[in-house]
Amino acid sequence: MSGFQSPRGLRDLLEPLASAHGWATDRAWAAADAAGYARIELPIAEESALFERAVGGTSDIVSKELYRLEPRGDDAITLALRPEATAGAVRAYIQHGMRSQPQPVRLATVAQLFRYDRPQKGRYRQFTQFDIEAIGDGGPGIDLEVIELGAAYLRELGLTDVQVHLNSVGCATCRPAYVETLRAHFTPAAQELSEVDQSRLATNPLRLLDSKEPAAVKRAASAPVITDHLCADCAAHHAAVTAGLATIGVTVLAAPRLVRGLDYYTRTAWEYLLPGEQGQQGALGGGGRYDGLVELLGGTPTPAIGFAIGIDRVVLALEARGLLPAVAGGPAIVVAGIEPDSVADRVAIAGQLRAAGASARADVSTRKIGKQLEGAVRDGALAVIIVEPDGRLTLRDLVKANQAEPAERGGVIAAALRLVQNEG
Ligand code: HAM
Repeated sequence: MSGFQSPRGLRDLLEPLASAHGWATDRAWAAADAAGYARIELPIAEESALFERAVGGTSDIVSKELYRLEPRGDDAITLALRPEATAGAVRAYIQHGMRSQPQPVRLATVAQLFRYDRPQKGRYRQFTQFDIEAIGDGGPGIDLEVIELGAAYLRELGLTDVQVHLNSVGCATCRPAYVETLRAHFTPAAQELSEVDQSRLATNPLRLLDSKEPAAVKRAASAPVITDHLCADCAAHHAAVTAGLATIGVTVLAAPRLVRGLDYYTRTAWEYLLPGEQGQQGALGGGGRYDGLVELLGGTPTPAIGFAIGIDRVVLALEARGLLPAVAGGPAIVVAGIEPDSVADRVAIAGQLRAAGASARADVSTRKIGKQLEGAVRDGALAVIIVEPDGRLTLRDLVKANQAEPAERGGVIAAALRLVQNEG
């Protein structure tokens, strides 16, 4: 036996989780297709400078969690495994001149991501997100569309108690003054803050609202809220989004101290939360506006908004609620054979059955027919086709426990297909 284990935080997904993961992914693509979002597949690595600029050098995602790859050969550029999909989507929007298409450009992807995070339940070093981006529209209507799309996706999977926690994080006009108000609020308590929080106080006081350290949590409870410090445009946008969501019927909770762990957000910011879950597990997804990012990455100023939902956490929530989808069963038809040299024939017949739309496999062993039949029963097959020594076929109905006389191939294959159609 090999002593190798999967690396910490990088998991094997076995059944039933593998099927649930695939199902949630298929539903994500279907939800995006139905809403008219174009599919985009992005590379799994980008220049690390892209993430540094987009997500922010002081964010945990870049400062602690980025997997950088050593430059190789003549390629002097340092790449990084993507920790999120938004930066790549915006890079692609600019690179492929999508500004010349009708705006907003609606993009969807399901992406595997990497963050060197401390692994725990619901927090992995490799994980998957359903990511939606709408680039090129600054009005509150697209906020409603995007927020509702994520909420509906979760609801339709069966997570009906999902809540949207909504905030506005302001813009370049109003946020700097608020940040200074926040800094002034935390400064008298600076000595009590942890070392990490003291450095946040210096570099990015907004992140103090998200700290889990007791001293910061205590001080944050009385901190001024950004929604009291928005400029007129941000306040009007936030009011329109809040009112619109009430009309749609999405359960929204005002969360004036909600901040997100990525630096690119402006105005609308939200999270999809499941009440009653432990720690981070209930944070199923989050998103926001990023009106400055296209310009920051070298494009023309273009407003945008998007979200990402963590598929791994969705699967955990489904599992906790007993909502995992059924795993596909064994094949409906097994093709067995009396003679060991009929194996190739059995494989060919199973292929013919699959081509006709049935689920089928051959028994490729040379064991006795009795053992082959036992194997088919164990697999939950409905029928067995037995290849006789003279090449004819016998159909055995495992549900009714009866067996027909050996007959010509075409007729038996057709009868087997009818049988699984009627009994399947
Ligand atoms: P995020 O909040 O960093 O946002 O991640 C979104 C979701 O991804 C989280 O709510 C969580 O479900 C899942 N997630 C994050 N880290 C992990 C992890 N280590 N293990 C398992 N699941 C995880 C973003 O990534 C933004 N790019 C979202 C966005 C798109 N904003 C605008 N457009």
